[in-house]
Amino acid sequence: MSSIPRTFARLLVAASFLRPASAANSKRGLVFTPNESTRKDDQIWVETPTTIKWYYNYQPGPDPTYKDIPQSQLEFVPMLWGAPDPTSKTSFLDTVRAMIEDQGVNITNVLSFNEPDGSFAYGGSDMEPSVAAQAWVNNLVPLQEMGVRVGLPACTGGTSGIPWLRNFLDECSKLISTSDSPRNCTYDFVTIHWYGNFEGLASHMGEYSAAFPNKTMWITEYNLNDQDLATTQTFYNQSAEYFDRLDFVERYSYFGAFRSDVSNVGPNAAMLSNNGSLTDIGAWYLGRPATGIDPTSSSSFRSMPPIGRFQVPETCNTE
Ligand SMILES: *[C@@H]1O[C@H](CO)[C@@H](O)[C@H](O)[C@H]1NC(C)=O
Ligand SMILES: *[C@@H]1O[C@H](CO)[C@@H](O)[C@H](O)[C@H]1NC(C)=O
Ligand SMILES: *[C@@H]1O[C@H](CO)[C@@H](O)[C@H](O)[C@H]1NC(C)=O
Ligand SMILES: *[C@@H]1O[C@H](CO)[C@@H](O)[C@H](O)[C@H]1NC(C)=O
Ligand SMILES: *[C@@H]1O[C@H](CO)[C@@H](O)[C@H](O)[C@H]1NC(C)=O
Ligand SMILES: *[C@@H]1O[C@H](CO)[C@@H](O)[C@H](O)[C@H]1NC(C)=O
Repeated sequence: MSSIPRTFARLLVAASFLRPASAANSKRGLVFTPNESTRKDDQIWVETPTTIKWYYNYQPGPDPTYKDIPQSQLEFVPMLWGAPDPTSKTSFLDTVRAMIEDQGVNITNVLSFNEPDGSFAYGGSDMEPSVAAQAWVNNLVPLQEMGVRVGLPACTGGTSGIPWLRNFLDECSKLISTSDSPRNCTYDFVTIHWYGNFEGLASHMGEYSAAFPNKTMWITEYNLNDQDLATTQTFYNQSAEYFDRLDFVERYSYFGAFRSDVSNVGPNAAMLSNNGSLTDIGAWYLGRPATGIDPTSSSSFRSMPPIGRFQVPETCNTE
């Protein structure tokens, strides 16, 4: 007659965590950009029902909030964000290897450099292709030899991306080839960032398909920034439908897992309102019904610069 016994309540919580996500074969992931002042928002993405199967946080190690969730429920994907200093440093490799070998964490995919063709000022890792190639050979090739899948670096959505990647692959191949034994650096999937409209996104994906044929794709950051709500929602629906339909899209993660008042992609692109409630896009992304909550409700919206995306603090580098 009173409340549910405690142990039973705990079991219910555990069971709801272990139940498969509503969309069993979801490709959806979380670009995790937690804000220390609103850490309570972090649970929303992993509470059922959810479609979130994986996440990354621009770092080699998992976030404390999620680190006890098994990989089979929420796969953590480590990222080698930028150039180690000095270049010869292998702390990324050491961290990931220790997770696999000492902690028994089933790491099966890793992401490489974040916007290496973009400047630090706009959140890029600003790397020379030759430096990136050396860091790749030192840190990622040994993981590939252990069977870990690795994504090609995620360039900006600009025209510098594909040329940068070609230079990178040339430099990388030079490092591992000898005169009598030419070799190429290999990768398991192409990684894409896009900010702009749906037609631009589809065309950008087409350019990558042509440049790197027969590779699957992960779209690890995308959004149509700084638009009115109807335009943003239409873009969200079109792109999600497109990614879900295309077999060569393995995974995708919408850049918007933050409150609208701190969004650097405009308030309407955020999945949380000013008070941390799911917006329609946030709810749809998790496979839930629309909430009808206006992204800018509950407090006044403070505008942020339109560009800059997510900038990793210095401490998040792989040093
Ligand atoms: C985190 O949230 C606080 C409070 O809303 C805000 O002042 C700050 O700019 C946010 N930080 C980032 C990196 O968005
Ligand atoms: C690790 O994850 C992969 C990919 O999901 C899966 O195929 C494999 O069975 C898992 N290995 C273990 C030991 O759980
Ligand atoms: C390396 O890749 C280039 C470009 O795709 C290709 O032309 C070349 O045959 C490859 N070399 C080897 C050794 O696989
Ligand atoms: C891509 O895969 C298709 C089908 O497997 C094959 O016919 C084609 O030659 C491949 N293209 C390249 C460039 O490897
Ligand atoms: C987006 O999709 C949702 C649910 O699938 C639907 O309810 C909504 O009307 C759509 N909105 C737009 C603008 O296409
Ligand atoms: C946040 O604001 C929305 C819309 O005004 C409201 O429905 C919701 O109850 C609020 N949530 C919290 C936690 O204050």
